[in-house]
Amino acid sequence: MRAPSAGATGVIIETERLRMRAHRDDDLADLVALAGNWEIARWTGTIPHPYSKTDGREWIARAQQDHATGHPRTFAITMKKTDRLIGGVGLDGSTGDGSDEPALGYWLGQPYWGNGYAREAAAAVIDYGFRTLGLKTIRAYADPGNTESQKVLLHCGLKHVGEIELLTPTHHGAWRAPLFRISRHELRRCV
Ligand SMILES: CC(C)(COP(=O)(O)OP(=O)(O)OC[C@H]1O[C@@H](n2cnc3c(N)ncnc32)[C@H](O)[C@@H]1OP(=O)(O)O)[C@@H](O)C(=O)NCCC(=O)NCCS
Repeated sequence: MRAPSAGATGVIIETERLRMRAHRDDDLADLVALAGNWEIARWTGTIPHPYSKTDGREWIARAQQDHATGHPRTFAITMKKTDRLIGGVGLDGSTGDGSDEPALGYWLGQPYWGNGYAREAAAAVIDYGFRTLGLKTIRAYADPGNTESQKVLLHCGLKHVGEIELLTPTHHGAWRAPLFRISRHELRRCV
């Protein structure tokens, strides 16, 4: 992974195959098409469904404001070769129970599943969170039925540390969810 670089358009984190960067206005069509899939929304607490162009524009504006702070937590996942958006990753995820601990969140457009992109993106953002933002711990929770996401978390070095009571149920009706966490001293390469 190359060290994150900060420029006028925000912080960029590059890995072997991916570029994590600020959302751009011209990501709108890809964002709406990919995030609008119920197979994505049903596993997340934060992606509206149906997903409108207005939702997409609001998300892009929020992400751009986040990058303007100089220490952003919200990134588009793009293919390095094409710079096209394939998903999203951030340290601005929902904590589930209202905790103020930084929370990892991610999604990948369905056509891109099964290539290791989520673990590659998540690992890079965890590394950025500890080394650049100076975070001490990062948490994530997942719907109890979301085995694919739990595999990503475990692969990136997070440990299953217990369960949390959710403030709102998952789309599948669960009020409790497994909690995962990694501390700065546990940081290791996962890809
Ligand atoms: C969670 C989600 C991002 C996982 O996507 P994914 O494609 O399964 O995860 P990865 O990108 O890490 O890919 C891992 C898979 O790619 C395979 N793979 C193929 N080529 C690979 C490569 N070069 N490197 C690593 N893994 C590779 C792995 O073996 C693994 O497959 P397996 O699960 O059958 O063992 C995706 O299912 C999703 O977006 N879901 C909806 C949103 C969501 O759940 N978000 C998380 C909320 S907590």
